[in-house]
Amino acid sequence: MIIGIDIGSTTTKAVSIQEGQVIHRVKTKASDAVTSATGAFGKMIVENSVKIGEIQRIMITGAGAPKIKDDLFGIPTGKVDEIKSIGAGGTFLAGRDNIIIANIGTGTAIIDARNGGVSHLGGSGVGGGTILGLAKRLFSVSEFKSVMELAGRGRLNQVDLLMEDIMETDLSFLNRESTASNFGKMLDNARNEDIALALINMVYQVIGMLSVFAAKSRNTDKVVVTGNGSGNLIGRGVLEQITLMHQVRFEYPRDAEYTTAIGAALSAAP
Ligand SMILES: Nc1ncnc2c1ncn2[C@@H]1O[C@H](COP(=O)(O)OP(=O)(O)OP(=O)(O)O)[C@@H](O)[C@H]1O
Ligand SMILES: [Mg+2]
Repeated sequence: MIIGIDIGSTTTKAVSIQEGQVIHRVKTKASDAVTSATGAFGKMIVENSVKIGEIQRIMITGAGAPKIKDDLFGIPTGKVDEIKSIGAGGTFLAGRDNIIIANIGTGTAIIDARNGGVSHLGGSGVGGGTILGLAKRLFSVSEFKSVMELAGRGRLNQVDLLMEDIMETDLSFLNRESTASNFGKMLDNARNEDIALALINMVYQVIGMLSVFAAKSRNTDKVVVTGNGSGNLIGRGVLEQITLMHQVRFEYPRDAEYTTAIGAALSAAP
């Protein structure tokens, strides 16, 4: 059994892999990398009655990986580059090579996995952390679930300037409901609900368009979305609108939030 641990900038994810299958999945949050990694590992062992003797190797990746200097608990411990991990994990979960991956975590990384190699095309600091950080300041909520609840009751046309606000007719592929300017309208009576929706909308539009440009630059029309942000249903709706305009489709693999940890485990030398 190989354990992959991804010490992300916000959450730590750990998986176990045996014979090419993901067996266990664990998430933790701690203020420092060592506590996160050892905590995730301990949680996996205790909650799933895994025997330490069964573990051949631990592979660590993510922003906090450099903080782990030695083997954990006497088990051979290796490090894997985060971009390589996202590429390997995304390829595994998508079930094929030659893909563009948009990994939406605290920030967002866009990766091209092709012919067994992985390249970092770019990304943006815009991601889940942007939504939560602004939501904290704007409406004093600190749980993502609360932002989603607010946004679920929001109306975009209270906050965003839409094409219908400025044009009588469609413009190229933009229709009446397309965004002309994120936050460009902001009615005086816009509610927190409307602002929460506009925030998620803006973040996913930015990520969606970066993904479209990345996909087009590699002559493909599909993007695999990974990271915690992959499961965001409002975000998926925003990306669907982008698909209609730009004919680039987004896929959401199962276990997407564990992509980086899975890729690290899969990168262990046999
Ligand atoms: N439903 C959701 N939709 C979008 N983002 C979410 C959701 N739930 C949590 N988040 C955000 O996801 C981020 C954590 O995601 P993830 O665990 O993939 O990132 P990370 O690996 O810690 O960060 P990074 O990869 O950028 O270093 C946090 O910023 C959190 O606010
Ligand atoms: Mg991450």
